Amino acid sequence: MSDVGLDTTNHLDEAAATDVLALAGRAADVDGVEAVSEAFRLALRSPHTSVTHLRAYAGGSPSEGLLGYAAVDPGGSAELVVDPVARRQGVGRALLRAALDAGTTGVWAHGDLPAARGLAASEGLVSTRELHVMERPVRDGDDVDPVLPEGFSVRAFESGRDEQAWLDVNRLAFASHPEQGSITLEDLEERMAQDWFDPAGFLLVEDTTVTLDGGAHPLAAYHWTKREPHSAARPGHARDGDEGAGTSGEVYVVGVHPAYQGRGLAGPLTGLGTAHLARQGVKTIELYVDGDNTRALATYRRAGFEDAAIHVVYGRPPAP
Ligand SMILES: CC(C)(COP(=O)(O)OP(=O)(O)OC[C@H]1O[C@@H](n2cnc3c(N)ncnc32)[C@H](O)[C@@H]1OP(=O)(O)O)[C@@H](O)C(=O)NCCC(=O)NCCS
Repeated sequence: MSDVGLDTTNHLDEAAATDVLALAGRAADVDGVEAVSEAFRLALRSPHTSVTHLRAYAGGSPSEGLLGYAAVDPGGSAELVVDPVARRQGVGRALLRAALDAGTTGVWAHGDLPAARGLAASEGLVSTRELHVMERPVRDGDDVDPVLPEGFSVRAFESGRDEQAWLDVNRLAFASHPEQGSITLEDLEERMAQDWFDPAGFLLVEDTTVTLDGGAHPLAAYHWTKREPHSAARPGHARDGDEGAGTSGEVYVVGVHPAYQGRGLAGPLTGLGTAHLARQGVKTIELYVDGDNTRALATYRRAGFEDAAIHVVYGRPPAP
C-alpha cells in the first residue's frame, strides 16, 4: 500500500488514545478476541510508560485516518491490530516491520487467529511462547472456602500496609516470568486505581507460625482475583445465562513464595479465590497461564479449568 503513513511516538494524547481504543474495539467485535491487552491499554494513557506507539494511517495524519496500531514495550513485547476495514492491504505487514525495527522480540497474537498466523509466517516468525486462557463454570459448592494447610491463614490485602510485602513475594514467585515478576509499586498502584480493584478479592495467605518484628506474619502466597464491574464472558465465549454485567471473574494472579512452594498451598489457594468469586455471583471464572508453567497448568486442570483459547507470541526463530 503506497499511501500508508507511519507515525511513531512515546506519548498519545487523550483523543489519540480514544481513537486507538475505538479501532481495537471494532477489531475485537470482528475477531471475537481483544488484540490489545490490559497492560497495553493502560499504557495508552499512562504518563509513566515507555511504550512505543506506532500508528498506520491514510489521509495525511493518524487523527484523520487511523488504519492500524502497534505498541512495543521496553521488554520487546508488541501487540498489533489493523482496522477490519483496512485489512489485507499491507498495513499489518508495514506495522509489524516497524515494530520489529523498534525493538520487538515477540508480537502477541491473541487467539492465534489465522490472519496473525499467516502474517507471522510470511515474515519468517515462529511461535516462541504460548499463553493458555483457561475457563470453568462456577458450580454448586464453589462458594465454600477450602481449608488451608496447618499454620496458614488468609486475610484481604490492605492498601498502605501490604504493598511492599506483596511486591517482594511477587518478584520471587515470578522470577522466571519477568512480565509479572518485574511489576513495580507504580504498576501496582495503577492497578489499585482501576474501577475493578477490590481489596476483598486480593487474598493474602500468611505463615502464622512465624511472627515478624511489629507482630505481622510473613506473606507466603497470594491470590488476586479480578471482576470487572461490567464484565461478561469474553467476546466469542458468551454462554447461555452468561451475558449480564459482572458475570465473569478472573484468577488474576496467583503466587507462592519459593520458600513455601511444595507445601500443598496451590490447590487451596486457588480455591480461596474461586470461592470469593463464586460468592460475588460470577458464573464463569477464567485465568491466563503460560504453556511452560506445567505446575500451574496441572493445578488449574485439577481445579476443573479447561483451555478456552491459546495466545501465541511470534518471534524470530532461535539461532541454530
Ligand atoms: C493479523 C493482522 C494484523 C493482519 O493485518 P493486515 O493488514 O490484514 O495484514 P497484511 O495485509 O499486511 O497481510 C500481510 C500477510 O499476512 C498474511 N495474512 C494476512 N491476513 C491473512 C488471512 N486472513 N489469512 C491468512 N494469511 C493472512 C498474508 O501472508 C499476507 O500477505 P498477502 O496479502 O500478500 O497474502 C490483522 O488481521 C489483525 O489486526 N488481526 C487481529 C489482531 C492480531 O491477530 N494481531 C496479531 C498480529 S501477529
